[in-house]
Amino acid sequence: MTLDVAAVRAAYPALRDGYAYLDGAAGTQVPTPVIDAIASAYVTGIGNTGGPFPASHRSDAIIEDARRAVADLVGGDPAGVVLGPNTTTLVYRFAQALAATWRPEDEVVVSRLDHDANVRPWVQAAARAGAVVRWAEVDPATGELPVGQYDALLGERTRLVAVTAASNILGTRPDVAAIAAKAHAVGALTFVDGVHATPHAPVDAGALGADFYATSAYKWSGPHIGAVVADPALLETLRPDKLLPSPDSVPERFETGTAPFADLAGVTAAVDHLAGLGGGVGVGGTGSRRERLLASMAAVESYERELFGVLLRGLEELPQITLYGKPARRTATAYFRVAGRTPGEVAEHLAGRGVNVWHGHSYAWELTGALGLRDSGGAVRAGLVHYNDRSDVDRLLAGVAELAGSSGSTGLGS
Ligand SMILES: Cc1ncc(COP(=O)(O)O)c(C=O)c1O
Repeated sequence: MTLDVAAVRAAYPALRDGYAYLDGAAGTQVPTPVIDAIASAYVTGIGNTGGPFPASHRSDAIIEDARRAVADLVGGDPAGVVLGPNTTTLVYRFAQALAATWRPEDEVVVSRLDHDANVRPWVQAAARAGAVVRWAEVDPATGELPVGQYDALLGERTRLVAVTAASNILGTRPDVAAIAAKAHAVGALTFVDGVHATPHAPVDAGALGADFYATSAYKWSGPHIGAVVADPALLETLRPDKLLPSPDSVPERFETGTAPFADLAGVTAAVDHLAGLGGGVGVGGTGSRRERLLASMAAVESYERELFGVLLRGLEELPQITLYGKPARRTATAYFRVAGRTPGEVAEHLAGRGVNVWHGHSYAWELTGALGLRDSGGAVRAGLVHYNDRSDVDRLLAGVAELAGSSGSTGLGS
């Protein structure tokens, strides 16, 4: 199955502004069906949940649909899908609930590959509980997170292992299943950050061994919503802080305040959009939505891999470029510097050429520290998602080449 990228791009109105959107790792654009679903919720009328009138029933249905959609996307149980404003907020929520079960001298393992959203909430919760934090290190030369080190990091006091399914700057996809197997062997739980991984490949949270799997819809063509997926039976064992009158049922127990109902309608539309990528854009195609998602995300993965090959080779061929990380399994995410230019200057130059890239540490705080880049401005991140095409990559390479001095040089600066 291949991706019809021209048809995909036509579904995204924002792409018509002529910019090359290589900033998808910081958030994707949204296709028309997502915009329509959000607008339609408001146009049709929505009420707060649990009332006896149709507008309230519609909000109830929107929430249930969003849980089913996220469960289909990552291979979970809809009854274990906790919805929230974003992943960071949800990790803090789970850190509070899990840390309430920790005792002094219990241990928590975090990794320097992770975005700070799956590091700091655990470090801070551990400090409050008197628990010990252990660090899994990254090989700075490759950007890999070696699995072997977990044997020494884990023990009978380990309560939680937090690890990312993909680095948001280097793209590294560590062997989460192997790490989770080691964690489970000592009776620890795993919290897997799937925010960067989910848009780039089929996901099976169960096969990864993720007791908790976090994902953010705005990274996969949806609205600004986060979700954590877990076994409902595991959620039943946790007692997060909550208001007295709010539901004590699972997963509602973990959800604070009134939900953004219209945006949640957009979450379902985004998942349907992804499920339709394999067979044209839309809800068509055969098989269950889960089956269609697995097929279309496999098509996304192979499309991005090929285009990323062009991007990487192009950067490698330019003089004065340093590329960070060369992990064996990765998403289509490049992190690089141009000699003599700050990452901010490179991003600004590219913006002037109509190319959107990110620069800086991108909240990969520990990783940019380990790479020795954090205090000097990080690096430039150019990432692909399924709606990027060859012209986006060519424009990036042409813009970088101007700075790297191989064509139309603007000089190297100091
Ligand atoms: C890998 C990764 N984890 C976590 C986050 C935080 O997600 P959110 O913005 O939904 O809090 C991000 C955001 O960029 C990310 O890339």
